[in-house]
Amino acid sequence: MRTIDWDTNTGTIKLIDQTLLPGEYRVIECATLSSLCKAIKSLKVRGAPALGAAGGFGMALAARLSGAKTMDSLIQDLEKAAEIIKSTRPTAINLAWGVDRVLHAVSDAYNTSSVRDIAVEEAIRIADEDVKINKQLGKYGSELLDDGDVVMTHCNAGRLACVDWGTALGVVRSAVEEGKSIKVVACETRPLNQGSRLTTWELMQDDIPVTLIADSMAGHIMRRGMIDKIVVGADRITEDVVFNKIGTYTHSVLAIEHEIPFYVAAPTSTFDFKEWEGSVKIEMRDPDELKFISGVQTAPENVEVYNPAFDATPMENISAIITEKGVFHPPFLLDEIRV
Ligand code: MRU
Repeated sequence: MRTIDWDTNTGTIKLIDQTLLPGEYRVIECATLSSLCKAIKSLKVRGAPALGAAGGFGMALAARLSGAKTMDSLIQDLEKAAEIIKSTRPTAINLAWGVDRVLHAVSDAYNTSSVRDIAVEEAIRIADEDVKINKQLGKYGSELLDDGDVVMTHCNAGRLACVDWGTALGVVRSAVEEGKSIKVVACETRPLNQGSRLTTWELMQDDIPVTLIADSMAGHIMRRGMIDKIVVGADRITEDVVFNKIGTYTHSVLAIEHEIPFYVAAPTSTFDFKEWEGSVKIEMRDPDELKFISGVQTAPENVEVYNPAFDATPMENISAIITEKGVFHPPFLLDEIRV
């Protein structure tokens, strides 16, 4: 099944619980807004494009569940729901983008039942488009990969981070589909191990060769000449930086040192045109994520912890940005990407 989907029979959201992988594959149902918000906060559903779909479906759910009888009160309910959903995770812009897209779509509705229909239709459209966009992006990006390449990636920017196919891993999948032999090196991605838990799992499902390394090994293997290219996803792209999972910036600096191309793969919905690094809030996560691994305490209970979920990589560290509109090389003129 897709990472996240709308169940037309029940009018609820179905999603793969990513906190259980790779040990258990379980699909859960979110039948209320609060269960969806909990799922987003706890990273049961995660990854920028999947969050875009979650935002859209969350609005569809809110429209369906609202008991409002008038247009005004229904729109008010939806505006409240929009704020609640957006506040769950502040950095990945796709979440707010998905929410706003549905809010905008219902503004054309003429009565309450058409608001509810349009909300569901638009949310499903967002999810369907995500798959198409990733495939298109993958095709463009695969041109940057050569037969025999070893590609390092960070976090999980695969089908689990999207509705399907993936962005960074979508590029790999497209290259493999074209007959190229590609090996992936997956960085573990502490503290929540999206690389070791999710990237390895989904690539192994597809029989794409993958080797797991701890984040701290990246410099060593680059220096040994074991990496040909790096491809990562993005949570938000502003005029000056790319926000992505914490650790991405470090890889980009090492890539420059070792003259390894560093590519970012992201749909245009991840672009925050006209914003700058300083205006974006980086999500701070629970200290326990660093003090415990799978429930086992690995640091003194009262130690001070700093746990930002994302970092910012300056544009000058990036060799190309791969989108569904094509591959963009420096200098990145966001105005060109927008059209
Ligand atoms: O905290 P997460 O797991 O939601 O972070 C995800 C990432 O940083 C991904 O690299 C990014 O969202 C791109 S997913 C295609």
